[in-house]
Amino acid sequence: MNVPTDRPEKSSAARASVRKASSRARAEAQRSEGFSMRSARGSDIPQIIALDEQVTGLAKAEYWQSLFERYSRPAAPEHFFLVAAAPDGAADKVLGFILGEIRAWEFGSAPCGWVIALSVRPDTRLRGLGRALLDEIAGRFTAAGVAKMRTMVARDNRLLLLFFRAGGLVSGPYFELEKELG
Ligand SMILES: CC(C)(COP(=O)(O)OP(=O)(O)OC[C@H]1O[C@@H](n2cnc3c(N)ncnc32)[C@H](O)[C@@H]1OP(=O)(O)O)[C@@H](O)C(=O)NCCC(=O)NCCS
Repeated sequence: MNVPTDRPEKSSAARASVRKASSRARAEAQRSEGFSMRSARGSDIPQIIALDEQVTGLAKAEYWQSLFERYSRPAAPEHFFLVAAAPDGAADKVLGFILGEIRAWEFGSAPCGWVIALSVRPDTRLRGLGRALLDEIAGRFTAAGVAKMRTMVARDNRLLLLFFRAGGLVSGPYFELEKELG
């Protein structure tokens, strides 16, 4: 069966107005759910390190600190480090985070948005936060001009596979190859 892959053309003004409307609607829905979506701040990093350690069982403080430094540089607009946060006294409580970047012409593939990491606090799951983070980064990728989003998931990570599939991602045209060195 031939599945058409080309999207219908829209004028850039029409695309901008769709993006604006949907990001307004998203922000409104998030406010009513008691959280907001924003770029990560330095003060979020200890919570992000703790959440990642809770989820993966590995503490990687230096890794997250260096990612934050690389991803939050104004000179790196193709990098996105976003958090869903709820007000909690003087500081925000990080409910979840997503990290992504636009990569261009990897192995001949046209520029696309890669989701590199994603986590939602175990006590706030199944309330739409993961989906809100995915929609937000998809909106940022679209606004930056790319029309495709990719990620990589361990074959035995059923939860992430179900999550991304529910978000509309399907198998792509590449597969990973690897070799033990040394
Ligand atoms: C995957 C994850 C981000 C989902 O976050 P979440 O806020 O619970 O997800 P949502 O509530 O937005 O769910 C969106 C959809 O994903 C699917 N989904 C999410 N959790 C699921 C589960 N436990 N079982 C089956 N489907 C699930 C559902 O289709 C759901 O839609 P529905 O509620 O309408 O059925 C979260 O479980 C998580 O952080 N897991 C750990 C991820 C990880 O391993 N990170 C480290 C490596 S980067």
